[in-house]
Amino acid sequence: MLNRYFSIMVILTALLSGTAGLSTTVQAQQQGEVPGQSLGLSSDSDLWRYVRTGNAGSTQMKNELSAVMIQSEGDNWRAFRNGPLSNVGAFAVMGIIGLLVVFYFIRGKIRIDAGPSGDTILRFGTIDRFAHWLMAGSFVVLGITGLNLLYGRYILLPVIGKDAFAAFTTFGKYAHNYLAFAFMAGLALSFVLWVRHNVPNRLDLEWLKAGGGIFKKGVHPPARKFNAGQKIIFWAVMIGGLSVSLSGIALLFPFQTSMFADTFALLNVIGFNLPTDMTGMQEQQLNQLWHGIVSMALMTMIIAHIYIGSVGMEGAIAAMNTGHVDRNWAKEHHNLWVEEEDQKGSPKPAE
Ligand code: HEM
Repeated sequence: MLNRYFSIMVILTALLSGTAGLSTTVQAQQQGEVPGQSLGLSSDSDLWRYVRTGNAGSTQMKNELSAVMIQSEGDNWRAFRNGPLSNVGAFAVMGIIGLLVVFYFIRGKIRIDAGPSGDTILRFGTIDRFAHWLMAGSFVVLGITGLNLLYGRYILLPVIGKDAFAAFTTFGKYAHNYLAFAFMAGLALSFVLWVRHNVPNRLDLEWLKAGGGIFKKGVHPPARKFNAGQKIIFWAVMIGGLSVSLSGIALLFPFQTSMFADTFALLNVIGFNLPTDMTGMQEQQLNQLWHGIVSMALMTMIIAHIYIGSVGMEGAIAAMNTGHVDRNWAKEHHNLWVEEEDQKGSPKPAE
């Protein structure tokens, strides 16, 4: 009997203390605390503000980036990539193609005014042509596979279906990763071979003033081996190509570089006020955007180059095909270079 009475007392005590506990929890929740006091005394808003502004907590995982729950710059990165970068890029590439079509219909193919002479002159040796096609071939594949990453899901996927698109994109990713090195090699070789012909001089201003003679039949401003237009392409390809290569390497080997923080620090010396305290993730996001911007600008320019080097101008492609160009073509577009070459070939006048 005593035992039974004791058990009832224990159960009642437990129930009463439980209810009391419940009422304190309810009160605590009404005061903004979390059951169990697991968050200590700091307020929820302070905690979430801390998390929302990209601060790192602590984690058992080896990768320190996993301690960041919310990285707001990611929103900005995605908005810029899917917004201005994609839109302006598409507009630029489609725009230049449209302009070239209009140019073709107005000006037509730029012919050799004097007609082909049948006599040729060596313009680019084997090593020059190898460097050009190594750089050009890899650039074209890099451009197509890169465009697929930006626009493929909207343009290609609906046409070829999921499986083919997945296979093409996987293949494209490997091609893009490995051919990047062929492009860099072609770029470096072209630089070494052609830089001495691409030093700007006063003749270039004359060439530019005459619009290179490409808008009017019969106009041929003087030029040496490379005219001002080609020099612009050369330097844009070299500087842009180097920049795309560096940002590409940073994307291939993530979180190893601080190129943006370093560049911003340099720019701050000349009066800019750019952030220099960036996380590895922010560096990656900026690398990706920069890689996209510069490569789209290069593609836009190279489309015009491909046009003028092939269908746009009679006789030009021979320079990179056999290496020999028609003498009349050379005289019209690079008269001073022809003179230099002829002087090299002819015996020196007796002094
Ligand atoms: C894929 C099609 C291409 C064609 C048909 C083509 C054609 C040509 C031709 C004919 C020349 C010699 C022009 C001359 O004799 O004066 C040339 C030069 C050159 N190409 Fe290309 N090219 C192509 C792609 C590229 C690409 C993708 C790049 C760079 C990424 C490039 C960079 C250059 C440079 C730097 C030069 C020397 C400067 C100049 O002539 O503008 N080419 N190309």
